Amino acid sequence: MPLNSVLPDRGFFIPWRDGRGRLSRLRIAALAAMLLPMLWPIWDWLHDELGDLEEITDFTGRWALRFLLISLAITPMGRVLEWPRLFQLRRMLGLGALGWVGLHVALYVVDQDGMLGKIVEEISRRFYLTIGFVAVLGLLLLGLTSTDGWVRYLGRGWKRLHRIVFPLAVLAVLHAMIQAKSNASEPLVMAGLLLWLVVWRLLPKPLALGVWLLAGAALLVGFATAGLEYLWYANATKLPAGRIFMANFNLDLAPRPALAVMLIALILPALLVVQRLAGRRHPA
Ligand code: HEM
Repeated sequence: MPLNSVLPDRGFFIPWRDGRGRLSRLRIAALAAMLLPMLWPIWDWLHDELGDLEEITDFTGRWALRFLLISLAITPMGRVLEWPRLFQLRRMLGLGALGWVGLHVALYVVDQDGMLGKIVEEISRRFYLTIGFVAVLGLLLLGLTSTDGWVRYLGRGWKRLHRIVFPLAVLAVLHAMIQAKSNASEPLVMAGLLLWLVVWRLLPKPLALGVWLLAGAALLVGFATAGLEYLWYANATKLPAGRIFMANFNLDLAPRPALAVMLIALILPALLVVQRLAGRRHPA
């Protein structure tokens, strides 16, 4: 489906209205889903259980990364479900992720008492902050150029520019991994899922909807996550990387990052099977 046909032609981007300016239940649901995690800290605050500023900074960073990856998963989901309306959500989820990033950085600034000199020094001195900062600049650029006007102005170049979202997501995952150090399970899951999304995009178009190929790729991406986890703990921490790797074969310790990635990646081929069984799709 051409991109222009799912974007509003003129006027501001109103998240809850579709391209023709009508209220869209799908968009309202997505907007609500993006705001829902905010209830967590509000609930904790109401019950006097709100953590310290660092904890909330971590929380907002994690949701920023989750929504960034969810926005990248929309294309494969839309293709598999043969549901082009889903593509309308890409821009909204991308901007939502940017909103969470903004909150994350704002909390960091508050934590540093808004002292610009100190913030600049920290960002230039600490590698994980430097790459987080580069990711923010890149995501801002993508956010600013996500309007219809920019889509038209840049033409084919727009798609090329917006592909930098993948290297930016790599920087964001690395930022989270370095920060989390010895407890990098969630960033490792994010790394595995990002790899899965990249692998899916690299597959030639007809193969990207083949059940067996997708199932095989999901298993491989799971194994790659286990390998990445081993390399991470062996090189970046003093933890026993070999024992952590072996834990992947102990179901009592499940779900580990590799298994989580494998199961999430298997959703795509599973959806294809369900569609074929329901007779909604011809076998590829
Ligand atoms: C100027 C840019 C950024 C700054 C200054 C920054 C700052 C920080 C800081 C200080 C923490 C650790 C908080 C603590 O002490 O526990 C953190 C964690 C985190 N950040 Fe950022 N961040 C930036 C950009 C990003 C971006 C672009 C993303 C994702 C899209 C992101 C995702 C995360 C995540 C997921 C964590 C938590 C890691 C964990 O699980 O512990 N950050 N960030």
